[in-house]
Amino acid sequence: MEDTAININLAETRTISLEEQPFLEIQGRQELSGEVKISGAKNSALAIMAASLLCQDDCRLRNIPCLVDINRMSQLLQALGVKVQRNREILDINAVNIRSSQAPYEIVSRMRASFDIIGPLLTRLGVARVPLPGGCAIGARPVDLYLQGLQAMGANIQIESGGIVYACIPGNKGRLQGAKIYLNKPSVGATKTIMTAATLAEGETRIENAAQEPEIVDLANFCRQMGAQIKGAGTNTIIISGVERLHALDYSIIPDRIEAGTFLIAGAITRSDISLCPVIPEHLMPVIAKLNSIGCRVINEGSDRLRILPENLKAVDIETLPYPGFPTDMQAPFMALLSISEGNSIISETIFENRFRHVAELNRMGADIRVKGNHALIRGVSALSGAPVMATDLRASAALVVAGLAAEGTTIVRGLHHLDRGYENIESKLQKLGAKLQRVNSPNRQGN
Ligand code: EPZ
Repeated sequence: MEDTAININLAETRTISLEEQPFLEIQGRQELSGEVKISGAKNSALAIMAASLLCQDDCRLRNIPCLVDINRMSQLLQALGVKVQRNREILDINAVNIRSSQAPYEIVSRMRASFDIIGPLLTRLGVARVPLPGGCAIGARPVDLYLQGLQAMGANIQIESGGIVYACIPGNKGRLQGAKIYLNKPSVGATKTIMTAATLAEGETRIENAAQEPEIVDLANFCRQMGAQIKGAGTNTIIISGVERLHALDYSIIPDRIEAGTFLIAGAITRSDISLCPVIPEHLMPVIAKLNSIGCRVINEGSDRLRILPENLKAVDIETLPYPGFPTDMQAPFMALLSISEGNSIISETIFENRFRHVAELNRMGADIRVKGNHALIRGVSALSGAPVMATDLRASAALVVAGLAAEGTTIVRGLHHLDRGYENIESKLQKLGAKLQRVNSPNRQGN
């Protein structure tokens, strides 16, 4: 059995030039067939790893995907003094000794989800110093709602020079206090932060207008299995009754609904008959509903398997919304699909203000897409053609890969560091389905 302690390497920050970057070379227009295995959900796993700081006993997490973001979160926990041991898809975490209340900038600046540690760290130590995660490629992404929530629970919050959030529980209270918190927006991150901080707070916390995403429910289930008292996760009101201590557990992460949605698009865009397993079909309801409107048939085959069947594609309008609305994380891959669907579609992005950077790259492949404000008008073309393209963020990279699968000729996708943050072994999974693609390491990097 391979047993891997994760090494901290804060120095891996050298900028790699375009010529040195590995790229994906895709020969499009291959029909896919067979079944693909869906990995554990990245965004659940990251939140649950951060929440494991709450527990002083052993946490065993199963179905953890092998991703760059997961390694970064492991490094972050280790930098705080937490023991993290990986054995294939199992991660063992023990946070009995947290040595530091300060999260290293080098890690937090590279992954927004690392800000999720602020609630659990503050709860355990009474103090936390976490750098602001800053803006990112898809929008400004402030953390005001996280911080207002913690303040409502009695935390003192200051932004120190260098953009470090300093949070502490004042006086000799020792614990955060339960509070009634209304979120201006149903923010996933703010809901996670308040919910985890409330598990060990004194008294009851009520979150109104809470996010309802499946990853929130997974996090709540994880906390409940550790002994937390949480009701209403998955609805817009979550009630948490604080307990004094949480205990050891063995927990399995849900399948990744966004990875599953991306493979459904891969099937639809190549007009292929493929199956996905394991999935929780209910988590994909908004995605399946849109695929049905586009003309695709998606069939439930048992409780954890979906099959997509080839059909003609027609235009449809999409508006991204908080769950159970259509997910913003599927917007870019759907845009690739609509770019070769018959007719005109409009996609309205309402969650993030800068999430259309894939448009220019899809247009480079022959798509006809125009952006006005937060709307994109997509005029369906008969085919895309292969081109060199650059991924600008994680889901944009997935859009370019599925576009490449459908395009005539060769597509070269660069910017794979985005793809590797969120898709486990995507090229080998696609290869097993019959796609022709390979990762090419640039000659300058070979042997490094
Ligand atoms: C999570 O981001 C996901 N990330 C995102 O997935 C996903 O796109 C997003 O939820 C929406 O589903 C992780 O789980 C790690 P939000 P998060 O807080 O928590 C605004 C991917 O590709 N807002 O629900 O950051 C914010 O600017 C990633 O896997 C505030 O104004 O999303 C945005 O407009 C990308 N103030 C909206 O709320 C706050 O304090 C929703 O953000 C917090 C958020």
